[in-house]
Amino acid sequence: MAQVRNIVILTGAGVSAESGIDTFRAGANGGPSLWEQHRVDDVATPEGFARDPDLVLRFYDMRRAAIQTKAPNAAHEALARLDAEWPKDANHELLIVTQNVDDLHERAGAKRVLHMHGEHLNAWCTACDARSRWTGPLIERPPCPRCGERALRPDVVWFGEMPYEMDRIYEALRGADLFVSIGTSGAVYPAAGLVRNARDLGIATLELNLERSQGSAWFGETRLGPASVLVPAWVDEVLAAL
Ligand code: OAD
Repeated sequence: MAQVRNIVILTGAGVSAESGIDTFRAGANGGPSLWEQHRVDDVATPEGFARDPDLVLRFYDMRRAAIQTKAPNAAHEALARLDAEWPKDANHELLIVTQNVDDLHERAGAKRVLHMHGEHLNAWCTACDARSRWTGPLIERPPCPRCGERALRPDVVWFGEMPYEMDRIYEALRGADLFVSIGTSGAVYPAAGLVRNARDLGIATLELNLERSQGSAWFGETRLGPASVLVPAWVDEVLAAL
């Protein structure tokens, strides 16, 4: 492998699949449809929340509780190892951009993680805009720890909302020499468009996925298989080439 210095990694639900967290789409080319027996429109849009807040809060309460029972797998651990061993000097950069709202990258020990779709373990106060660490339920409308208003919602980006920190992601990409996409179907933009941005910038692109994603044709290289196998092998390669 050619030596790389500056890597942007995008992860999706496939990286957490082997930890027992369901992916969103059954197949690489299936569109968003039923999500744990709910229509995406009902549980993952601001309109759905306005229509039936109890349904949405209960849904996320259940998922927030569920992820706390899961553990990182070999793919999370390998990325945490890459983060720990990647040089921290002016010539090297690393950013793990995740679409996942679980905290398994962090629990594996990764530090340079950006959650573009928010985090299950945060609550966002729509009254004062504060984000608070939140591990319990929201259904009883607990007060915001900062302003006291009962206006907390899951800090998760819904369809129709802007993903977080896009400027920082594009800036990282501009400085990168390798873009790696792991366990994502390439169905949801703007994350799905990052491979095209990378190509336009002349950056090498690598896809690690169980099956070809919707944007697979855009990648310079695709490796197919489970993340728990592919990711540790790739991390070994990239560290060996340092
Ligand atoms: P998807 O469920 O759309 O895609 C998961 C991908 O992971 C698929 O391409 C699978 O083939 C692959 N996969 C499954 N198991 C795997 C394994 N063990 N190893 C490697 N790959 C595996 O999930 P995302 O692409 O992450 O957004 O979904 C993107 C966004 O859609 C989510 O962040 C969420 C959702 O709506 C929001 O909530 C805003």
